[in-house]
Amino acid sequence: NKQHKYRIASIPADGIGPEVVSAAIEVVQKLSEVSKTFEIEFTHIPWGTAYYKEHGRYVDENVLDVLRSYDATLFGSVGAPDVPDHISLWGLLLAIRGPLQLYANVRPVRTFPGTQSPLRNAKAGDIDWILVRENSEGEYSGHGGRSHRGQVWEVATEVAIFTYVGVERIMRFAFAQAQARPRKLLTVVTKSNSLRNGMVLWDEVALKVSKDYPDVKWDKMLVDAMTVRMVNNPESLDTIVGTNLHMDILSDLAAALAGSIGVAPSSNLDPTRKNPSLFEPVHGSAFDITGKGVANPVATFWSAALMLEWLGEQDAKERLMEAVENVCQAGILTKDLGGTATTKDVTKAVCDEIARLG
Ligand code: NAI
Ligand code: MG
Repeated sequence: NKQHKYRIASIPADGIGPEVVSAAIEVVQKLSEVSKTFEIEFTHIPWGTAYYKEHGRYVDENVLDVLRSYDATLFGSVGAPDVPDHISLWGLLLAIRGPLQLYANVRPVRTFPGTQSPLRNAKAGDIDWILVRENSEGEYSGHGGRSHRGQVWEVATEVAIFTYVGVERIMRFAFAQAQARPRKLLTVVTKSNSLRNGMVLWDEVALKVSKDYPDVKWDKMLVDAMTVRMVNNPESLDTIVGTNLHMDILSDLAAALAGSIGVAPSSNLDPTRKNPSLFEPVHGSAFDITGKGVANPVATFWSAALMLEWLGEQDAKERLMEAVENVCQAGILTKDLGGTATTKDVTKAVCDEIARLG
């Protein structure tokens, strides 16, 4: 009899996915226990590599209808050592992102209290970015092919698709994100010196959309120079928008600069809210630590917090992030952050902190 009740599809999938997703479900359940406003129910969906080996496909045939019957999806990671990565990624994650038009991939990056950036001179607060990744086109459109297989003139193409509609909607989203932040600062990542079609359209649309956001300061950076700026001048950046491929790469760099890929979250949003959105850690299956109980669950906690915010539970999001910050500050950190805590230690500490904050 609380005001809001949410139904969430949980797809832990492969590798450390099940370890970090079950940890996140535990902390969100704890939050809902102390919350006066919402209840939440997670439904386990077994899609992933084990499902693929049994059924010959990564997801149910009605994948989109299944997901549309929930308010949101919490996702772990997909990929296994004995299946080619393009089969697993296209079989599961890319079978959802594109068809559900989850076109805005938002990846906040920040150094938590009690943790350190590998940058020697980085001060607290220097790395506090929102990366916006175009999530539906570019090199990930699936446009291309292979022919003359087995000949030395075998040819393979991967066509980067940029549409006016696709670029405009992500630019509007990014300018609005930048506008909502105190610094109102946006950097548009491009490569329009060498890529003279798609990336030039990208720049033109950025300029056009910028007119509707006169209070947002914005600049353009070529992607190669951007890597240097992220390392040498992190405090000069705030909100960043880029293509599907460029931001795939830059967001891993950003996560590493902030301290660890183990804390980097992401939202895959349909900003029109016609379809439910999907929330997942940025990292993958991490075969090297699977089953060892040492995966950092913070990326998935933060992803779950973004999910709660998207659903309208701002207070719960803030409480969860405060609990995570306090636990980091207290030095309860997994190995990737230089600590000795296990996934379970961190999860318990965050649950206890949520109870303490009330
Ligand atoms: P990865 O992110 O799985 O691992 C890279 C490194 O980061 C590893 O040393 C790993 O131990 C470490 N790491 C990752 N998450 C961590 C965490 N939560 N706590 C502590 N350390 C962590 O990337 P990799 O090795 O390139 O890919 C492995 C598999 O995952 C591949 O099959 C790949 O296709 C898949 N993958 C899936 C993604 C997804 O589902 N969204 C994203 C990236 C990769
Ligand atoms: Mg990636």
